[in-house]
Amino acid sequence: MSVLDRLRLDGKVALVTGGGSGLGQAIALAMADAGADIAVSGRRLEPLQETQRIVEAKGRRCLLTQADVTDSAQVNRMVAEVIAGLGRLDILVNNAGGGGAGAGKTMTEFTDEDWHEGINANLTSAFFCSRAVVNHFAERGSGRVINISSGQGYRGGRNNFMYAVAKGGMIQLTKTYAMTFARNGIRSTCIAPGWFPHFMDPDQPSSRLELQAAGRIGLTYEIGPLAVFLASEAADYMSGETVLIDGGAIAGGILPATIVPVAEG
Ligand SMILES: NC(=O)c1ccc[n+]([C@@H]2O[C@H](COP(=O)([O-])OP(=O)(O)OC[C@H]3O[C@@H](n4cnc5c(N)ncnc54)[C@H](OP(=O)(O)O)[C@@H]3O)[C@@H](O)[C@H]2O)c1
Repeated sequence: MSVLDRLRLDGKVALVTGGGSGLGQAIALAMADAGADIAVSGRRLEPLQETQRIVEAKGRRCLLTQADVTDSAQVNRMVAEVIAGLGRLDILVNNAGGGGAGAGKTMTEFTDEDWHEGINANLTSAFFCSRAVVNHFAERGSGRVINISSGQGYRGGRNNFMYAVAKGGMIQLTKTYAMTFARNGIRSTCIAPGWFPHFMDPDQPSSRLELQAAGRIGLTYEIGPLAVFLASEAADYMSGETVLIDGGAIAGGILPATIVPVAEG
């Protein structure tokens, strides 16, 4: 078997939460290119339909399931729908999330609700999804979980408590799940992306780019191959690991302008 054959996901089914947009869509499309059938979830139908249209154009099956991943009942129903609809589940990508909760506030302005919203969207959701798939994975003696953290999960983020703390938690969730289920044939890995602002034109100059080691933003399609690798047989001896994909930003110790630490007081 060639090395490229080991990267194929033929016959596998991958569920990507938040798979209707951004990095989640890019991961779903890359896994479809590698041969997997895809399930995508999110709260809004329209973005999921767009991913479905592109996946099906690639000749793969694509199941949509609307679910709020902060609600464990909806998560359990989502996983049951995928297994019933596509016959199995091999790969879970815990991608849904984002930095919205409490945006623009300082620590003393954060409400209890802001805290819970940020942690629930970015960490509790991944725990719920990982728990919902574990019996199916253990019964089959095989399963892959890929969590999406962030550079802020490594280094923290100024005024970004819920997001950075939750994303740091994703790294530990990855390790704990990996250790707990390693002998059940279940692998858990994590991707920590740097700056992938898919709303920006990569060719437009921006002062923030100067703060990136690579001098450019991450391009959405660059996330997919890493996710395919981590899901594939080629990565079968990797578990518990977090892989940064940030153009050298963390290595360079250079932070995006909005979250760079400043001396205060
Ligand atoms: N882009 C970056 O620069 C970057 C950097 C580091 C890490 N990340 C992480 O990468 C992941 C994807 O980010 P993105 O930039 O691609 O953002 P995005 O385009 O806003 O995508 C987020 C997706 O998550 C879904 N989602 C959010 N909350 C949800 C909930 N409660 N239940 C179900 N689905 C939910 C959204 O769908 P609905 O709104 O329809 O529910 C959306 O499809 C996030 O975890 C983010 O923190 C991104």
